[in-house]
Amino acid sequence: MTKVVITQSIYDQAPQLLAEAGIPYFYHQGDTWSPAELKEQIREATVVVCLLADKMTAEVMDAAPHLKLIANVAVGYDNIDIPAATERGILVTNTPDVLTETTADLAFALILAVARRIPEADAYMRAGKYTRFALFPDMIGTDVYGKTLGIVGLGRIGTAVARRAALGFNMKVLYTADSPKPDVERELGVIHVPFPDLLPESDFISIHVPLSPRTRHLFTMNEFRQMRGNACIINTARGPIIKEADLVEALQKGLIGGAALDVFEEEPQMHPGLADMKDRLVVTPHVGSATIQTRQKMATLAVQNVIAFLTGQPPLTPVNPQVL
Ligand code: GLV
Repeated sequence: MTKVVITQSIYDQAPQLLAEAGIPYFYHQGDTWSPAELKEQIREATVVVCLLADKMTAEVMDAAPHLKLIANVAVGYDNIDIPAATERGILVTNTPDVLTETTADLAFALILAVARRIPEADAYMRAGKYTRFALFPDMIGTDVYGKTLGIVGLGRIGTAVARRAALGFNMKVLYTADSPKPDVERELGVIHVPFPDLLPESDFISIHVPLSPRTRHLFTMNEFRQMRGNACIINTARGPIIKEADLVEALQKGLIGGAALDVFEEEPQMHPGLADMKDRLVVTPHVGSATIQTRQKMATLAVQNVIAFLTGQPPLTPVNPQVL
């Protein structure tokens, strides 16, 4: 019999959709399972609805011999061993598109926050340090409007960030991508450049590539040295794209102007050196898609994939459709 296991809390109307479709499910709403607990809990499962914190390795899949579908409630799927799933005939689905604009909003919020030092200013106010207006206050920032933004990866989210930058902030937008995107270039005037050129020419660099062996540690001390001394790096993609120890060193040595991070190399930890940085660093706890509207849409899309799969319809957003 079909067994659907939802590994963590998702928007409750999504499991309700399963109930309405007459599909029984087990909905775990407690802490993230350890790998051993995950293996134990999905032993009888045909379908697993999971989140980024659930590491769906080959070993975990092998503990679930009936597993046919992994529905990830996320657009990224680096928590899932896709070749292992494909080899085992397990379909994987994700939740693209529904979170594009929300994540681009956060990337832009981080650009503004690090440029204008908003968290520092907030802490300053709360500490009662604002005693007189000064033309050159302690926390003088840098402009965003009219500056150059370098986008690493002009996919859906990268393009949504480029649109905000070009149309809303009159920024010059450079981008890297495996191949040029003439449509976006025509629409927004963005310019395709090789990665080594983007580094020294950008005031802000925003990362929008998936994590892969090619992008792991794309930013190390070598890249920070090539950036402008006042440039800021923004990461709303995946933590390991930046070598965090090197970022700490680059910030400490003043090689770059600042960083704003929503993702971390060893989530949910962050490098102790980062936590010690008092300024020029903005950190948020992986909240790129965290609005009520978008999280509802993500959970719903994941469950719609489950229902489609179990009722013989084509899944809406398959990652490895070749298994079908
Ligand atoms: C979040 O990081 C996602 O991939 O959806």
